[in-house]
Amino acid sequence: MKEYNLFVAGATGLVGQTIIKVIEDRNFPVKNLSLFASERSREKKILFRGNEIEVKPVEEADFTKADFTLFATDSDISRKYAPLAAAGGGYAIDNSSAFRKEKDVDIIIPEINSVLLTKDKKLYANPNCSTAQLAVVLNPLHKKYGLRRVAVSTYQAVSGSGIKGVAQLNAELMGRKANDPVYPHPISGNCIPHIGAFDGDGYCEEENKMVFELRKILGLPGLPVAATTVRVPVAECHSESVLAEFETPINAQDAAQELSGSPGIILQNDEANNIYPLALNSKGRDEVFAGRIRNVEGWDNALQLWIVADNLRKGAAANAVQIAEKIIEMDLI
Ligand SMILES: NC(=O)c1ccc[n+]([C@@H]2O[C@H](COP(=O)([O-])OP(=O)(O)OC[C@H]3O[C@@H](n4cnc5c(N)ncnc54)[C@H](OP(=O)(O)O)[C@@H]3O)[C@@H](O)[C@H]2O)c1
Repeated sequence: MKEYNLFVAGATGLVGQTIIKVIEDRNFPVKNLSLFASERSREKKILFRGNEIEVKPVEEADFTKADFTLFATDSDISRKYAPLAAAGGGYAIDNSSAFRKEKDVDIIIPEINSVLLTKDKKLYANPNCSTAQLAVVLNPLHKKYGLRRVAVSTYQAVSGSGIKGVAQLNAELMGRKANDPVYPHPISGNCIPHIGAFDGDGYCEEENKMVFELRKILGLPGLPVAATTVRVPVAECHSESVLAEFETPINAQDAAQELSGSPGIILQNDEANNIYPLALNSKGRDEVFAGRIRNVEGWDNALQLWIVADNLRKGAAANAVQIAEKIIEMDLI
């Protein structure tokens, strides 16, 4: 089997570390793994398949040697280096929001739109974590019933804010104040309906990301999407309460059956036995979990459901690795 030179930028962060775990777990065919982060991490060593790999500053990356570079960096770093990686000849797959709004950069979820991957375009965006899990579940329902509008409320884990988010929750759980808090309020014992900057119209950045990205990924530019995004004191895995309306009447049982046969989804829809998706059970998994599927009384075309996924895996690292796997499978490299 052919093996590939893989670069990871942002390798010391939560998503970067999860990428390394995912490529081990999924046995991604790696010839050489090169790890990059900031100057602060110079000479740090990270274990991969039993070998210690030294982390280098991203400025020192020679992208002409990479078949794939997975970026797990903030937007400003991705914006600077991902085009260099793509120009180097390999594929650049970016986890930040730097390129998602660009017309000629596709946001890829392999279960939905891998047909957009080509040999000519070398830069692809990973979706925002809360959008990824929502799109995976809504796509098969949309294909069968035609999506008309969506309302979603999220319950998002602190690991979605990276290392600093986890540090703030842990410090507060131990009765301390975080040294470098990322949230404008305490997160322990709290739910904060505010993720990313407010836009002046009452929406925060995460809500706007969900609206834009869901439309782009599903190819439905006019889809009405009402999102409320909430940070909750959970370490890992985002949960979402979804109300979706369709063009045709939809029955909860048929919808459950449709989802159970769809790629990347695990159905947990057995309330009689207290079985429904839970953050604690979704941790470390690459699939999206769906359950609590219900019709809405007096509203034939509507469905309510509960969706959970590991934000660091399907919401970031696993989806990025799956894109690389798809590029290999489609013989594009
Ligand atoms: N966390 C999630 O659930 C999630 C989900 C989807 C997308 N994302 C996106 O993925 C990206 C990474 O998120 P994260 O949660 O992993 O953040 P994180 O834990 O804070 O990690 C940030 C990474 O970026 C590196 N970095 C910072 N400044 C740098 C610089 N000047 N040059 C090179 N590298 C630098 C850090 O290296 P040092 O250790 O050297 O500082 C670290 O490896 C972000 O764009 C985020 O929006 C995150």
